[in-house]
Amino acid sequence: MPKRAAAGSPRAWLGYYRWTANRPPRELLLQTMNHIDWEGGAGRARSAIDLGFGAGNDTLELLRRGWRVLAIDGQKVAAKFLERRVPNQWRPRLTTLVAPMEGLTLPQADLVYASFSLPFCDPAQFPALWSNIRKAVRPGGHFAGQLFGDQDEWAGKRPLSFHSRRQIDACTRGWRVELLRETVEEGRSYEAGKHWHFFDLLLEKPRA
Ligand SMILES: C[S@@+](CC[C@H](N)C(=O)[O-])C[C@H]1O[C@@H](n2cnc3c(N)ncnc32)[C@H](O)[C@@H]1O
Repeated sequence: MPKRAAAGSPRAWLGYYRWTANRPPRELLLQTMNHIDWEGGAGRARSAIDLGFGAGNDTLELLRRGWRVLAIDGQKVAAKFLERRVPNQWRPRLTTLVAPMEGLTLPQADLVYASFSLPFCDPAQFPALWSNIRKAVRPGGHFAGQLFGDQDEWAGKRPLSFHSRRQIDACTRGWRVELLRETVEEGRSYEAGKHWHFFDLLLEKPRA
């Protein structure tokens, strides 16, 4: 039997992209779109950063809705995977960047979206990344994404970023919290069954 690729290797990520590629856009992205449209953002030329875009499902949904997207991922295979999926007429609004999220300087954007990707940030670099995200979001703009909680099965076993509820509250300071939802559930990851603990966040950067 072929050996399973090591977690975090390009081969393992490619398996994850294939596993997720046929899924609909994430619920949090749709909620974010509804919220922004409800606020009157529809119709403006809007720019998003999709940080850790993976198979690119949500990048494609943003493009379908007319957004300009800077899609960033640490894996070259992610960029190749997404490139093949983008219809020609949307290409002018997409920029793809292969780079680690740690140490990135992000350009200004109306939305920084990071679906199940920020937990993969080196914990020592997380505070700087979070501060970069806040700087990148335009006043009145949004952050949406997930952070892993400290009861997640991978906490203490993998060198990822996990947050206690108190740390989550600290992260949201200075933002207007539109959604903060904690989930604790048995489910599965690409690799196996998993005890999940994560927070969905939709945050708005105040204008003043
Ligand atoms: C769990 S996947 C999520 C993908 C997609 N956003 C989704 O919701 O399905 C995490 C993604 O983050 C990327 N990633 C992991 N560590 C990274 C890092 N340090 N810098 C940039 N991207 C990273 C992986 O390559 C992967 O595509």
